[in-house]
Formats: sequence, C-alpha cells, structure tokens
Amino acid sequence: MVKLRSDYKAPSCVVEEAYLNIDIHQDHTVVTTRLVLCTVDDAPFMLNGRDLDLQAFRLDGFDIEKDKWPLTDGGLLLEGLPAKTIVETVSICHPESNTALEGLYLSGGMYCTQCEPEGFRRIGYFPDRPDVMTCFTVRIEASRAFPQLLSNGNLLETGDAGDDRHYALWHDPHPKPSYLFACVVGDLDCAADSFTTRSGRNVDLHIYVEKGNLDLTGHAMESLKKSMSWDEERFGLEYDLDLFQIVAVSHFNMGAMENKGLNIFNSKYVLADKSTATDADLHNVESIIAHEYFHNWTGNRVTCRDWFQLTLKEGLTVFRDQCFSADMHDAGVQRAQDVSMLRAAQFPEDRSPTAHPIRPESYREINNFYTATVYEKGAEVIRMLSGYLGTDGFRRGMDLYFSRHDGQAVTCDDFVAALADANEIDLSAFSGWYSQAGTPRLQVRRDVSSVDASIALIFTQTIPETAANTPREPLPIPVRLGFLQADGAPAMLRRDGENEARTDHVLLIEKAHEVVTFYVDGSFDGAVDELTPSLLRGFSAPVILDDDLTMVERLNLMTHDEDLFNRWDAAQSLLADAVIAYSRGQGDCDQLARCYQQILADDNLLDQFKASILGIPGIAVLESRIKPADPVALHDARLALQAALGQALCDEVDACLANQATHAETAGGRALLNQLLALGVAAGNAAAVKMAGAQVLDANMSLSQGALRALMDSESPERVSGLKAFHDRWQDAPLVMEKWFQMEAMSSVGGTLERLEELMQHKAFDPNNPNKIRAVLGAFMAGNPARFYAADGSGFDFIARHLIDIDKRNPQVAARMALPLTRMAAYDDGRKAQMLYALQQIQASKPSNDLGEVVDKALAASA
Ligand code: PHE
Ligand code: ZN
Repeated sequence: MVKLRSDYKAPSCVVEEAYLNIDIHQDHTVVTTRLVLCTVDDAPFMLNGRDLDLQAFRLDGFDIEKDKWPLTDGGLLLEGLPAKTIVETVSICHPESNTALEGLYLSGGMYCTQCEPEGFRRIGYFPDRPDVMTCFTVRIEASRAFPQLLSNGNLLETGDAGDDRHYALWHDPHPKPSYLFACVVGDLDCAADSFTTRSGRNVDLHIYVEKGNLDLTGHAMESLKKSMSWDEERFGLEYDLDLFQIVAVSHFNMGAMENKGLNIFNSKYVLADKSTATDADLHNVESIIAHEYFHNWTGNRVTCRDWFQLTLKEGLTVFRDQCFSADMHDAGVQRAQDVSMLRAAQFPEDRSPTAHPIRPESYREINNFYTATVYEKGAEVIRMLSGYLGTDGFRRGMDLYFSRHDGQAVTCDDFVAALADANEIDLSAFSGWYSQAGTPRLQVRRDVSSVDASIALIFTQTIPETAANTPREPLPIPVRLGFLQADGAPAMLRRDGENEARTDHVLLIEKAHEVVTFYVDGSFDGAVDELTPSLLRGFSAPVILDDDLTMVERLNLMTHDEDLFNRWDAAQSLLADAVIAYSRGQGDCDQLARCYQQILADDNLLDQFKASILGIPGIAVLESRIKPADPVALHDARLALQAALGQALCDEVDACLANQATHAETAGGRALLNQLLALGVAAGNAAAVKMAGAQVLDANMSLSQGALRALMDSESPERVSGLKAFHDRWQDAPLVMEKWFQMEAMSSVGGTLERLEELMQHKAFDPNNPNKIRAVLGAFMAGNPARFYAADGSGFDFIARHLIDIDKRNPQVAARMALPLTRMAAYDDGRKAQMLYALQQIQASKPSNDLGEVVDKALAASA
C-alpha cells in the first residue's frame, strides 16, 4: 500500500495521558496500555498494533468481549467514542524471537526498544503516529537478574514485585510521540558524570554498557558534555531533564536513536578509545553523540507532523552536528568530508530508481526513507537557508521556530515560515528544494573582455529528470565565488551593480539562465584573462558544477585558493580526471605531484588538510563522470594513479616514514602518515611495505588500521601476515573484529566470494547482527569493486542470495543493503542485465515490504 503526503489527516483524538505497563518474562512480555482519549471529531481513531496477541480490551474500565473487539489489519479501530474515554489494552509480544530489531527485542542479553518510525506498534496497542504527543508514565517489571529498568524522563519509584522480581516507575513530563519512547532492561555497567547547565541546573549523565566495557566510555562522555555546551552557546538551547541516559547495544539497525532522555546507540558509536578505534571512528562517535543530543530540541521538543516531514528533524540536526564538528575541528577539512559523503552517497541516490525529494511525496515503507537524501541533502538545504539569512538571521529564525512550535508536531513549511517571519523575508523560492528530486547541474561559462576588463559568468541550471518524476523548475542556487590572479593572489573585482570591489562574492542564481558580470578593480594591472574563478566556495549549494576551467587553473586553485574547501575540491577534480585518463591508458600525474610537493612542504597547512587533499575520489564519484562506467577498470586505474603518485612523491613518502614517531603523535600526523604510507605501498616501495607490515601491530588503532588499509590491495606477504596478526590480537573484541571483517572483504586480492563465505562462518560473525552483516557484505559492495562488479555477474548473484536470506530475519537491513544493486544506470548493458537478473531473483523470493519496495522500483525503472 502506497501512502501519500497529500493524504494527511489530523488525528481524531487527543491523548491526554498514557500509561504503560511492561511486564517482561523469559518467553513472552505482557504490555498494558491505558490511554485517556478526548475526541476532536468523529472520524475513527486507530490504535496501531502489529504481531501482537491481544488479551483484553477495556473501555472506561469495562471489559469488551472478544468477538466485539474492533480488530482490523493495522490494529484496533475505535469508532463512535464519547467525548472522553479511558481505553485499556493488554497484549503479548515476543522480544526473545524478534530479529527485525524493531519494537522490543533482545540484544546481547539485554532488552531494548527501537520505535522510530513505526516500531511502537510491535510493543503494544497505541496511536503510533508522530503527531499524537502525550505524557508517558511507564511501569517496567522484570526478574531481578536484570538490575536496570530504564525508561524516559524521571524515575519516580522502584520496588519489589515478588517472585524475585522488581519494578521501576518512570514519568516523562515532556509530551512526546510514541516513536521517542524507549525502555531498556539489563544487567549493565554504568559510567556516571554530570553537567551543569548554563542556568545552573545539574544534569546526571549515565552511559550504560555491557559488562566489562566501562573503560571505553570516556570519549563518549566527553563528547556529550561538549555537545551540551555547544548547543547552549550556539543556539541557546539547554537540556530539559535532570537525567540524560545513553545505552550502548550491540544489535542495532542504524547508528543511534534520540529517544527522549534515553538515547540508544549502536555500541560501535559509543565504545571507543585510541587502542580500539581510529581517529576517524572517534570523530564519528563525537558527531553521532552530538547528533542525537541535538535532537532533544530539533526532533523531540519540536517534532514531525508526519513521516513525510522526516527531513524537518534530520536535515536540520545533521546541519547542526556538521556545524558542531566544524567548530570542534577544522572547518575546511570538515566541509570536505561532508561533501565527499554527499557525493558518494546522495548524488548516486538522486540519479537512481529510488530518487526522491528531501520531503518525499509517497512511500510504501517509511523505513526505506532514512536516506542520504533526507539526511545529507536535507542538511545542505538548511545550510543554504542559513547562509542566505546569515548566522544571526538563522538564529533569529530558530528562536522563533522554538517559541512558536515547542511541544508541537509540525511540517517543513512551518520551519521555513518561522525563518521567513523572524527575518521578514520571503523564502518561498526555496520551497522547490523540498519538492524536487535530482541534483541540479550548474553550468558556468566565461565571457572575458579585455576591452572593459570584465568577466561575465554565464550560468545555466538544469534540473535532471529522475525516477521520482517531480517538477523541474529552476531553483535558487547560492554561489559563493572569488577570483585568483595567476600567481594565486586573491583578486579584487566589483560585481556589476555594486560599488565596491571584493575578493569573495555571494550570488543567488534563480533563473535557468543568468549572466553576472564582474569588473576588475583599478588597482589590478594584470590581464583579465589570467584570472581564475573559484566557484561554489565552501560548496555553497548541492549541485554538480560544470565549469570551463583548465588544468592549470585548477592547479592554481589547489595550491592557492583562500577557500580551503575549493583547494580540496580542485584536487578532487584533477584526481578524478587523472583516474579516468589512467583508465584509458593515458595517465600522467607529473603536474599534480608537483602541486602536492608544494602543499606538503607548506608549514601553514594542517596535516589533517594535507591528508584529506591526498584522498582520491572513490568509485561512486568516479563513475558519475563517464558513461557507461566500468567500475573494475576504474578501480584498476585508481590503483595505477596511486602507484604513480607514490612514485612521484617518493621523497615525501620517505621523509614522512623516516619521521614516523613525530607524525604518530597527532591525529593529523597519523592521517598524513597513513596516506603517504598507502601511496608508498601502492608504488611498491619496499621500505613502505615493510613499515606497513610492522605498523599493523601498533598500539594506536589509527596507525594499525592505516597500515592494513595501505596493504589491502597489495600482493605482498605483509597483507596476509598483517591480517592474521590483527585477527589474532583482536579475536575476542567483537567491535574491533568488524574492522578485520571489513578489510578481509574489501581486499581486491583476498576478498573472493569463497573468502566471504568463510568470513560468515567465522565465530565472531553473527548473522543477526547488522554491524557484522555490513562489515562483510556492505564493505564488499562499497569497497571491493573488482569483485562486486565482476563482469560475469557473480558478485551480484552472491549478494542477491544473501539478501534473500537476511530479509527473512531483518527486512530493514536487507532493503538498505540492496541499494547498490539498483544503481544500474551508470553501467554497460552486460552489467545492467546481470544486475537485473539478481533483482529478479530477489523479487521471485517474495521479499518483505521493505525489500520489495526497493526492488520493485529498480525493476520498474529498467522496464
Ligand atoms: N532517528 C535516528 C537518527 O537520525 C535514526 C534512526 C532511525 C535510528 C530509525 C533507528 C531507527 O538519529
Ligand atoms: Zn537524526
């Protein structure tokens, strides 16, 4: 059944209060819901329930006979209710056999919940929609073998329940929708700390982990405190309860979940220190802790009216966590990382059969819409709005949004209206970014006139056709830009219609075709045709830029632009061009290498930036540049470029390796060391290979994993011995073993289908654990193009077979993992046919609604 955004109807009842009783037993759980309902109109009111065994149904205390229960497909459909009623249900669910990891389930011996978006209905009968907000009182009862009985809000009371059982009673004073409910029952260790808010309130901070993991919680706790201060300073937002709890669970479909006052995290994003996690992992933990914490205001205090509005909370919260990370670290490097992710995940989605606008118009399964588009492109849209209003204007808008909508479930339009009203500005032009799918292409051509010393920039935007079939009107595209002189110095230009010359300009391109003219400043005596435009600085809009820059001009930007993001991005373009040239047997990297020599020698640049500018774009980015793309050939060409760069930069590589100890001291130094080590290994530099072999056993995980990654595609014995040593060292550390699985699966040398089957039989592999599935099959699809895209279709077949199996246990994970199989458009007919065949196999297996939606869309697009 397809749901449409346009079908929205407000709920016909208000839930004045909700009481839950959760009674956990070894082989079943009994859930009682008691709701005080007040009718708003006489439309029926649904208490959703899924896979529940209803035991009793009461209205105002009177038991209703079983044959009169208003049971329908989706739950109890209440009709003809009086103005105020108390509805009570008693039902049974089975967390002990729940492998979908939605609703109440068991993870590593503890009970936990995942309710977003529609998981609550698998726990008990309830109006499971985000626009029904109410205050929850929750009683949890379980065996004393589980000391922790946790839920949202404040703990009111605990006590004995007889029979070696006990109970806890929680009350959350903040009204919330069912998707933010959580409960955890387990025997856990707790790291405790506290935070004093700006207004002087004390907040207890508890991080619960499986026994024995306390020593891995320090980084998460520090990250939480940083997030709490940052939100106070940047947005004036304070935490609003006396207790903030985080629970780390091993079995989790996603990254983490912002349940009110009781965040539940994939343990991978909590448990980390320098010996078990890389610097990048630690950075990730920090940003996910921040993301979930920030949801307390953007998501929880003000939530979504319906799930079509998901980007209201997700796009905004990703934007907030990106700003936080930029403040905590280097803003330029952070921006490069965010854009790199957008290009690798969202741009491909936008040209795929599952393309959708950030605010979708329809869905079959809402779980399939937790996408890079809703999250990352959604964040880009907020960034454009924020840039357009300026930091202060955006803050004014946010303030109004909270004061107007606190405690409400609202829409994206409400959000934009608050920004507009607070600034007395019309933002209606931006609405197209919410309703149109597809990545706009922005073409920029130059018309240079030495007669009047001007440069006209000719902008043409095109909105592509997508599978979503949304309108294709021109969008407002903010373009930040400047000009560089031939020696790299910033040039002062005056924009037509303005009085002053400047080095940095912001345009808003709104029409399909626009020309903007710049005049050189009187003080500039060079030739106007020697100026290099630096376009789309900071990636000021999520578009594909099609410019007419020469290689020399890009090298100029890469070496000199004052905008660090554009330096990185110029390198990305040059590297992509180089890979494609290598794939055609015409590769050459001399000029690039000379530019890198200059950058590496520049003491004013951070090591972290040097490392990031050395990163070669991945296959997902490369394949968008040629049609049809051959991922296997691109992978080989990428290795060839790496080898050539490693050769050309051999002095830099040797110097860095000789200086290993110094580099090893900082995160930036380690990143740079790892990059150069990888180039050295790719170039077959014997010293580099030897050093990588030794570095695999370094006590610092960044260095250890960096060394293994450097060896991944090398035929050397060091790869084999390194993987073995890593395995033996970490075989009892389940999270670290995920790295080992990944590296085994990604190796173009060792990661054969036979090896993958072996990995899935390994004792550290758990077919019910999404992290493990992603570490083997996900890493294989994303990181082993030579084998996944093998021309005989064996990689696609293999994945299809496993997805059919996974789908029976965990449809959400299966649907998400099927996405790479649906991205057929980029490839030649042979590969397309192989992918199609794999999809047909899945379709023939009668997949879940989740996987079915993805596969049906892909098959429809290719019909
Ligand atoms: N709402 C979570 C987040 O973005 C993601 C999530 C969605 C987690 C659905 C679990 C299930 O932070
Ligand atoms: Zn989120």
